[in-house]
Amino acid sequence: MEDILDFDLTNVEFVKNPYPIMAQLRSAGKPIWHNEMNMWLAPRHADANAVLRAKTLGRIFQPREPEELWETFNWLHADSILDSEPPKHTRLRALVAKAFNRGQIDRLAPRINQIVQDLLINCEIKLKENGNFDVIADFAEPLPVMVIAELLGVAPESQELLRPWSQAIVKMYEYGHTADQQAAARAAGADFAQLITQMVTERKQNPTFDLVTELARVEESGEKLSLHELIATCVLLLNAGHEASVNGFGNGFVATMRDQLEVEKLKKNPRAIADTAVEEFLRFDAPLQLFERTATSDTEINGITVKTGQKIAALLGSANRDESIFQQPDRLDVTRNPNPHIGFGGGIHFCLGAPLARLEMTSSLPALFEKFPNIQLAAEPVMRPTFVLRGYESILVTV
Ligand code: HEM
Repeated sequence: MEDILDFDLTNVEFVKNPYPIMAQLRSAGKPIWHNEMNMWLAPRHADANAVLRAKTLGRIFQPREPEELWETFNWLHADSILDSEPPKHTRLRALVAKAFNRGQIDRLAPRINQIVQDLLINCEIKLKENGNFDVIADFAEPLPVMVIAELLGVAPESQELLRPWSQAIVKMYEYGHTADQQAAARAAGADFAQLITQMVTERKQNPTFDLVTELARVEESGEKLSLHELIATCVLLLNAGHEASVNGFGNGFVATMRDQLEVEKLKKNPRAIADTAVEEFLRFDAPLQLFERTATSDTEINGITVKTGQKIAALLGSANRDESIFQQPDRLDVTRNPNPHIGFGGGIHFCLGAPLARLEMTSSLPALFEKFPNIQLAAEPVMRPTFVLRGYESILVTV
């Protein structure tokens, strides 16, 4: 076990395929202490799930220092739904929960299908021009960015800024970053906050039907939402609303392309198996691999004690390969059912956008296979060099 615990989350080989090491970690049968990371790791399904659900393990945001440099970045996190705990978390989540429930999200289906069809036409043009297109840049990425931007009311001309800003910010969720990456994250946070502040001011003068208008109304009433909380919530929704969806689609797509049997299944019946395929995409190669919690009092998880102030990380990608829960966990099976993966988390922070992510993916995946039944990789897909947010930079395909 000592040797296995030497693994380094920034190591290129580990990032390429972390699953063999995860399997060894799970064989310990309980959470293990990682000296260098100075925290517990919960690689098994039951333990990771217990970590996410424990009331005494919270998402406690550690402000970055020096404070004057990181001020905006810090409140963008401390005042967001994701990085707060009850009672603040309950209040903030309740304000946006209705907009993201299944019923509201289902009403977006026609618009989502329209965007998917427009993107496919564009992919066809690229194919004619270059002989290939990029499943990430031309398909998986623009869809969730447009959908979440339209929901909040971000103007089309500002939408292209969202992805680079978000990318700069989420680099800070990895282990180990350079001074340049830190500066880029701070700048992106400031620019992002400025855009939303501007939108809020405009919507207060000229209300429309978007989510920013709705939240600005709540903030103006002075009761439930501060201006920082409003901005932080919008930035979180815009970031969380696309990052994992892009990577979840790309990871599952590449895994499918590497298994002819699964390709055939999707080719033959893309609509009928879209639901199970999407769940399997999120299980097989989770786009979000690790979430930390901090103990607010001594907490027992499967025989170990996380002492007050200590951290423990739920390893979602590992939990989703747990051999005690899933048969043949290292096999992609797009018809797997049941599939109790925890790719969307669990407990009070369970993904608010799960119905939206599911609708986007179950709409776009069959449409891609219907349009291009002979789709295949045109080059080796290029992975991002990051572990926590796991995904591909580009996936060139041809037909
Ligand atoms: C395949 C796509 C997605 C995956 C795999 C995913 C996964 C997750 C996970 C694992 C968490 C919990 C984090 C934790 O426990 O610390 C989470 C939280 C969250 N997600 Fe997602 N997500 C996806 C898409 C979306 C979308 C489309 C939205 C758009 C609204 C969204 C909004 C959020 C928000 C607001 C939270 C914070 C919830 C809270 O703290 O109460 N996510 N997501």
